[in-house]
Formats: sequence, structure tokens, C-alpha cells
Amino acid sequence: MAAHSPAYGRHIEEVLRDNTFRSEIGVQSIFHPDREMGLADACSELGVPFVLSTAASSTIEEVASANGDGPRWFQLYWPNDDEITISILHRAQELKYTVLVVTLDTWSAGWRPLDLDLGYLPLLNGVGDQIGFSDPVFHSKFRKMHGIEIEDDIPLASREWLKIILSGSSQSWDRISFLKKHWPGPIVVKGIQHPEDAKLAVKAGCDGIIVSNHGGRPTIYGYAVAGKQGAQEVLMGLLADLDRSMSLSGIINLQECNKSSLVANE
Ligand SMILES: Cc1cc2nc3c(=O)[nH]c(=O)nc-3n(C[C@H](O)[C@H](O)[C@H](O)COP(=O)(O)O)c2cc1C
Repeated sequence: MAAHSPAYGRHIEEVLRDNTFRSEIGVQSIFHPDREMGLADACSELGVPFVLSTAASSTIEEVASANGDGPRWFQLYWPNDDEITISILHRAQELKYTVLVVTLDTWSAGWRPLDLDLGYLPLLNGVGDQIGFSDPVFHSKFRKMHGIEIEDDIPLASREWLKIILSGSSQSWDRISFLKKHWPGPIVVKGIQHPEDAKLAVKAGCDGIIVSNHGGRPTIYGYAVAGKQGAQEVLMGLLADLDRSMSLSGIINLQECNKSSLVANE
């Protein structure tokens, strides 16, 4: 029967190329000394798009270099300063990040008692702020505001950067046009959980949505245990699982994964 299945002859590389991307995970220096660069390299070898977080512990330039010819996307924590937003988008575009992922669901950090007890927030100590600290516009604004360089007071610079990228203030749907003006490629909004928001995203001109709740993902734990190889082991497991599930369901690509393959649980 397999020969007659529409899924017959599908190849894992196609699934890889067409249907997956590596979730955006910030501050990867806390997981492995290779920071974002090890995972960007691992993804490049597998042909999986690597998504660089705005809260990265590597710069846009370092990751582009580690990712080489691999596909890469950029995830934006939308700064509340338009000049800085334009600068970051410009840097990412120049280095061939093709898709912009705009995270909408991080109004505040989760309630993590252990982190609170320990006062643990790496971004307040210059860890995960590398996109900002390497940005020429943030540099000049910081210098103008405080009369010193970022390197002279990392905790102060960290606080200023956090106020810009995780300001707790919201953007509105009509502001997507601002991003479209400065980002010619596809724009995907992340953190959508309600059908009405999905419709609003499409109406605002977004090209895609990522339904997600900002929870946990296993690749990063594989990365923490065994670096690039560990990340690839987990990624291959996830991809094989996806491949098998699609195959068993007779689904060739994600376009075919539509309402017709879902059964309502009344
Ligand atoms: C340690 C960690 C760091 C994360 N950092 C970011 C980030 O910088 N930007 C972002 O948009 N999402 C971040 N996320 C959320 C993930 O991208 C993803 O949405 C989440 O793990 C849920 O997975 P799912 O979307 O497959 O449900 C992070 C998640 C974890 C566990």
C-alpha cells in the first residue's frame, strides 16, 4: 500500500527544507560556550533555518558568519526606538537573514521563583545583549545620554538596552506597515494563540504566524549537553518524528496538513 500512498517517496531532506525551522532561543551562552554560533552551524549543516534572537549572546554578524550559506531568519523583540529598529533590521538584511519573526508575546518574563530568589536575569548583566551592544545607533545614543561608552558601565548599558527591547509597551497592528517599509522580506508574527489575532495579523499584512506560548524546547537542552552534536541529535529526532507522522498520515507537505486531516474531538 505504501507505493500508493501520497506520502510515498517523500524524502526527509524535503521535510527539513520546507517545513521546519529552529525556534528562536535567546542567551545561548548560558547553554554552551559556542553560544548561538554552534547551533547556527549545526542548523546550516542540516539545512534547517536558524532563527537568531534579539536577545542573543552573539552578534548578527558573528552568527551570519557561523551559519555561512545556511538559511537564517531574524527574530525581533521590537525596540521602542524606531531608529534602533531600523538599524537592526538593516544589519540583518545586509547579512541575508531572509525572514523577520516578530515576537508579540513577551510582555513580561514568566514567574520563575528560583530566578527571582537568585536575582538571575543574565540580560541585566550584559549577557544576551550582544545585538544591542554591537549596534552603532545604540552606541551613539548611549554615549549621548550618559557621556560614557557601553563598555564603561555594562550594568547600566544592560538596563538601557532592556528598556528598549522589552519595554512592556505594546505595538499596534497598524505599525506592521512600519516594519514592512524597512523589511522587504516575509514577516511572521510569533506568539499568536487566538484565531481573531491570526486574522488581524493577516489583515495587517503579515506573511505568516507562529502559534506558540513561549514554553520550553528540547534542542537547547541537547545543545547544553553535547554542543553542536547534541543539538543535531535532538533536531534529527524531531525531524524524523515529524517525517514519520506525516508519512503515516499520508501528508506530503505542510500545505496538505489542513482541516481535512484533523478530526474534531466532540
Ligand atoms: C531558554 C529559552 C529562551 C527563549 N528565548 C526566546 C527568544 O529570545 N525569543 C523568542 O521569540 N522566543 C524565545 N523562546 C521561546 C521559543 O522560541 C519557543 O517559542 C518556545 O520554546 C515554545 O515552543 P513552541 O513555539 O514550539 O511551542 C525561548 C524559549 C526558551 C526555553
